Amino acid sequence: MNAPEMESSSAIGPESAADLERLVERKLVLWYYFAALTYLIVSMLGGLLMALQLIQCNELQGIELLSPGRWRMLHTNAIAYGFLANAFLGTLHWAIPRLTMRPVLSKPLSYLIFAAWQIVVVSTAVGILLGQAQAVEWGETPVWIDPVALLGLLLVAVNFMAPIAGAKGPMYVSLWYFMAAFVWTFLTYAMGNFIPQYVVCGTNAGAIAGLFIHDLVGLFVTPLGWGLMYYFVPILLKKPIWSHGLSLVGFWGLAFFYPLQGIHHFLYTPIPMFLQYGAVISTIAVEFVVATVIVNFFGTLYGSGRAVVTNLPIRWFYTGMILYFVTCFQCALQVTLTFQQLIHFTDWVVGHAHLVMFGVFSQWLLGIMTYLIPRLTGKEWYSRTLCEWHYWLSATSIVVMFLDLTMAGLFQGWSWSSMQYWDHSTQVSQPFWIVRVFAGLAMFSGQIVFIYNIYRTLSGPRTAPATGLQPATA
Ligand code: HEM
Repeated sequence: MNAPEMESSSAIGPESAADLERLVERKLVLWYYFAALTYLIVSMLGGLLMALQLIQCNELQGIELLSPGRWRMLHTNAIAYGFLANAFLGTLHWAIPRLTMRPVLSKPLSYLIFAAWQIVVVSTAVGILLGQAQAVEWGETPVWIDPVALLGLLLVAVNFMAPIAGAKGPMYVSLWYFMAAFVWTFLTYAMGNFIPQYVVCGTNAGAIAGLFIHDLVGLFVTPLGWGLMYYFVPILLKKPIWSHGLSLVGFWGLAFFYPLQGIHHFLYTPIPMFLQYGAVISTIAVEFVVATVIVNFFGTLYGSGRAVVTNLPIRWFYTGMILYFVTCFQCALQVTLTFQQLIHFTDWVVGHAHLVMFGVFSQWLLGIMTYLIPRLTGKEWYSRTLCEWHYWLSATSIVVMFLDLTMAGLFQGWSWSSMQYWDHSTQVSQPFWIVRVFAGLAMFSGQIVFIYNIYRTLSGPRTAPATGLQPATA
């Protein structure tokens, strides 16, 4: 049996379909989504403020609590722990019980984790604004919050592992990815937040911090993102994944090669060269692994290509996959020492970070929300046109922002390598930084449109059974 069969009520009969409904705590999934979208807006306001600072239009100049450096950390932390973590946790509360046909270990525990996680995220934001950030990029969570966050991650793992361990059916590749993510996220968080703080210092701490920041993307965001795509894509396309074998290659390839890559952030540093070369080689290995995953998803789409036009969630997913391919292609260039000479420390890297975080993983999560919100509320979308606006504003703004920052990075690199004064590089950056503000405003407007659409949908009448924007033929 594959995932699409499980989802179809005709395959499991009316009683078990009702059981399936009872397995999911819909209200909680919605709460997670509301929290995620709130932090997305806060984070984007931070990004906009930082972008305005760089074109010298910061109206909050001189207010220490709201200084751009602190907003920058708020921007990245609110995205990672506020938006992405909440959106993932909400979606896992939908996907895992449905895949395993078992509820999570304890619903009260789920609500406790939800509340505790919001306390962690809000305290992190307050701590950062008060100047208590820990000196680890993306691990700026003040040190006194770290043990609570780690305990939260442990409880998340226990709560979700229970249904997976008790599942009687087949072990879907999504479940492999989820289980790995629970273990890896816990270990990655512990490594990045405790080892540089208490155990090692200097270059060693730098190497660990590099490993942490990259593993946070590769061992927390990536396995959850891919696991959810392996769950939702076959269901929406109503067919099994193209190759089960390739999906396993992707999983084990990620497990073997990803953890070794972190040092590619620190090429040309005093970290021993054999470690730097090791990171370069494992990054190239991951490019091949990623290629297998992408081939598998496009193989699955083969024969159903029209779904990208007619089925909005599928369009979000496959836009993210194309952009994933672009980011990985970029990685193949930027991991070489030759290329790093030009682009290191430039906006090229910032463009790359936005492409992967918003263009790929956020777009997947926004596509999932577009699909699930009608199912969670029993109400059809208030406006399909607004859903389309949400998609187009998000997709075009990220492409513009990415191209703009990539160009800015190249100009900055050329300016530095031709030994110009520092001011020269900031002057050539100005037009690009202005374009970034407009791209950011478009991205922000897209999310406001989405939130307005959710608000109108929730305040509208119940229209069950809601299908969530996918035509029966897609
Ligand atoms: C309103 C839209 C946004 C604007 C205007 C914006 C702007 C910025 C700015 C100005 C920076 C600092 C760059 C620097 O230090 O030179 C930044 C960093 C970053 N932003 Fe955004 N951002 C936006 C949305 C997002 C979203 C939606 C995400 C993720 C889903 C994101 C992820 C990141 C990351 C990961 C970094 C760190 C990049 C690095 O250190 O290389 N941003 N952003």
